[in-house]
Amino acid sequence: MISRSSLCAAIIFFMLITAAACSRVEKPAVGGKGPLSLQVAEGLASPNYHKPADIWMAAHMDQLNSGRMKQQECLGCHSEPDNFCNKCHLYIGAKKIIVQKAVL
Ligand code: HEC
Ligand code: HEC
Repeated sequence: MISRSSLCAAIIFFMLITAAACSRVEKPAVGGKGPLSLQVAEGLASPNYHKPADIWMAAHMDQLNSGRMKQQECLGCHSEPDNFCNKCHLYIGAKKIIVQKAVL
């Protein structure tokens, strides 16, 4: 006969395993593999205004929305927004970055 306490322990153990598995969400990040990996050209140095990275993550929208920087300046390095900006933006529900085609 399985004791009541060992049955309880088994149930709690199972719940912990399930919770651990569910909380392991992959987020968009530079490097690594998979559909959420942010692609940056190899050997490309990031500009000084990207540092520290967490501040830049929180501030890049202000730089662009205020007009202090232009999206065009980003695209020199992040030339394919679908492989970079939009992987994060679509994940979090921010607006899609669309490359303006040059007007000839
Ligand atoms: C000179 C090249 C260059 C330019 C210009 C540039 N970036 Fe970057 N950026 C990089 C590199 C390289 C990385 C890779 C991570 C690192 O080294 O900081 C990066 C990382 C980032 C990240 C961080 C992603 C993460 O999770 O760490 C964001 C957001 C970003 N860039 C947005 C922008 C925006 C917005 C602009 C324009 C205002 C811009 N970048 C202009 C080279 C550039
Ligand atoms: C790792 C995540 C991440 C990456 C990569 C990233 N962004 Fe963002 N971006 C954000 C977050 C978070 C916000 C804030 C969204 C909000 O406030 O609703 C944002 C907001 C913005 C906004 C303001 C949008 C608005 O509706 O006001 C612009 C413009 C922007 N990002 C440009 C870029 C560009 C250009 C790139 C690529 C060069 C880029 N971002 C890459 C996370 C990212």
